[in-house]
Amino acid sequence: MTNVAVIGTGYVGLVTGVVLSEIGHTVTCIDLDEQKVNSLKLGMSPIYEPSLDELMVKSIESGRLYFTTNHQEAFVNARIVFIAVGTPQSESGAADLSYIQQAAKDIALKIVNDTIIVVKSTVPIGTNDLVEKIIYENLVADVDVNVVSNPEFLREGHAIHDTFHGDRIVIGAESIEAGDTIEQLFNPLEIPVVRTNRRSAEMIKYAANAFLATKISYINEIANLCEKMGANVLDVADGMGLDHRIGRAFLNPGLGYGGSCFPKDTEAIAYLGRQYETPLTIVESAIKANFHQRELFLHKVLDYFHGNVEGKIIGMLGLAFKPNTDDLREAPSLYLIEELEKRGAIVKAYDPVVKNLKQCVCSVQEVLINSNAVLLVTEWDEFKKANIDNSVIFDGRYIYGK
Ligand code: UDX
Repeated sequence: MTNVAVIGTGYVGLVTGVVLSEIGHTVTCIDLDEQKVNSLKLGMSPIYEPSLDELMVKSIESGRLYFTTNHQEAFVNARIVFIAVGTPQSESGAADLSYIQQAAKDIALKIVNDTIIVVKSTVPIGTNDLVEKIIYENLVADVDVNVVSNPEFLREGHAIHDTFHGDRIVIGAESIEAGDTIEQLFNPLEIPVVRTNRRSAEMIKYAANAFLATKISYINEIANLCEKMGANVLDVADGMGLDHRIGRAFLNPGLGYGGSCFPKDTEAIAYLGRQYETPLTIVESAIKANFHQRELFLHKVLDYFHGNVEGKIIGMLGLAFKPNTDDLREAPSLYLIEELEKRGAIVKAYDPVVKNLKQCVCSVQEVLINSNAVLLVTEWDEFKKANIDNSVIFDGRYIYGK
């Protein structure tokens, strides 16, 4: 079993740390935020993610999972260091690599062993090369370093399940031995491994996310046409999805994709396409279609009120960008709240997990009472069973669709 350090305790870092410790490795997760580290040490995860807290507590108690703000402490025994820091979107659409660069410098200054650096963050093609360059330029100890790309494919809300039962593990390495070591690390998971060079591994992540985002935008455009033509898009999706070449997954129409990955990753790969004068016109269209989908939904609601929602009470079911998460990043709910309130509407919203917006009320019933219209924004199971019969519903996720 191996001693591992993980830089960054966001979704990817924390889940990676917990799962690696669960399969027997000793893991120390590093984060600069002291308060966060203190609550992590107590087994309290800062994010809502089914079964994450239980596994954390178990690994902490068995002495295989540690948290620290101190790089030296984490690196002293580590042979493998994961970088799992954020790569947010910058103004231009490109991924902001400042946290990655900082992590590379911290590694260079503080490692004391021969180390394999594993880049788990979603990064533009060529970033692993950059990480290697930064490390060698700043390296203090006389040690060997290899950088390996190992992109993450987990979904929020299913993070633990996806990490234990992923479709594949992608390992992009220039050194066969370094790639083998990372492959062995994940061996207990018994997931098929794809070995590539580093740039291909980086590309697999972006290309996969952009493809899935495009699939969603495609079915959304078909849904819009179905509505005009008297076809039922859910039947259409079922009929299409049984074709194995297509598959039913990611053909759920609705308000479009949000969250921390698809919006930023599609922008980032589209940016790369423009930068290298190889425009990704299909991805660019998927991005536009995705935004248009929210506008279209808003306009359906506005049209119902003849363009005037001043003083109208609009109920909202769901705030998170999708069910089983408390994540509001790029959530359609935020766009809708802003646009409706700007026009004088009063919004009251209920979400089973998100409770911290000023529009929040405590139950579905409270949303339904006195609302002039109700918008179904996130397809939580609770809403599928709710009695909504007496309300004017705009079903943004087709859950009442068949
Ligand atoms: C995604 C990818 O699935 C994961 O592999 C990647 O590494 C990170 O990004 P995540 O953002 O957590 O994961 O959620 P996912 O379940 O994939 O949904 C993304 C968005 O697409 C959500 O807004 C969801 O509502 C939307 N979606 C998904 C649809 O609108 N229709 C679908 O059929 C599927």
